[in-house]
Amino acid sequence: MKPDTTRPRTEAWRDVVEQRHSCRAFTDEVLDDALLTELFALAQRTPSWCNAQPWQVDLVTGPARHRLAAALEIAYDCRPPQWDIEPPVEYLGAHQVRRQAAGAGLYRATGVNRYDMAGRVAQMRRNFEFFGAPQVAVISVGSALGEYALVDAGGFMASVLWSAEFLGVAAIAQAAPARHSDLIRGALGIGDDHLVIGCIALGRADPDHQANQFRTGRAAPDEVLRMHRT
Ligand SMILES: Cc1cc2nc3c(=O)[nH]c(=O)nc-3n(C[C@H](O)[C@H](O)[C@H](O)COP(=O)(O)O)c2cc1C
Repeated sequence: MKPDTTRPRTEAWRDVVEQRHSCRAFTDEVLDDALLTELFALAQRTPSWCNAQPWQVDLVTGPARHRLAAALEIAYDCRPPQWDIEPPVEYLGAHQVRRQAAGAGLYRATGVNRYDMAGRVAQMRRNFEFFGAPQVAVISVGSALGEYALVDAGGFMASVLWSAEFLGVAAIAQAAPARHSDLIRGALGIGDDHLVIGCIALGRADPDHQANQFRTGRAAPDEVLRMHRT
């Protein structure tokens, strides 16, 4: 949703932050280039170490998007993962509790029973067709700058998501397609000096789709915020 910019800045920002959520079903509407350029120009304001702005965006649409999705779906079905960045091995404690809650919300909304492995795989597989989004931004980062470049790129991805919400664009960050990072690099001519972090699918939300009928919660600030005064 697009906030009323005549309202105080905090109110407008609160709207963006509270309304944004991941979209897992898109319509066919293709976003126009001017809107996408505006979105990425806003996101480019992301701060980064030494202002190096180490991220790269490969925006894929039209036949190129369909080719990439088809290749990723086949890879998911019959090829071992080849991540550029190792995915988390296990989630522990509060992290696991939050992860399970998010997963349960999705499966409840889509009617997938937690023991229905085929249903869960089918939902997972939707990642590789970008949940039907007509355009997808592949985010990679120069590997030479080390792990802080990943921190910069994470900030950039968040900025893309906030900017999308502000402009009325539905979006979802996706690490899953990066499980075939080598394939993505090959398809888009992304050099070996870059690490594929993942994608951001962009488009218009299908508001009635069951996958869009749930919202995640957040930890209360005192679960993560430690005040040191004395
Ligand atoms: C770096 C990153 C990677 C993600 N990868 C995936 C993914 O592969 N598939 C997916 O369905 N959601 C993915 N998500 C979306 C998260 O599940 C989602 O942001 C989280 O559950 C909070 O929900 P919300 O975005 O609706 O607030 C990813 C989010 C981030 C930030």
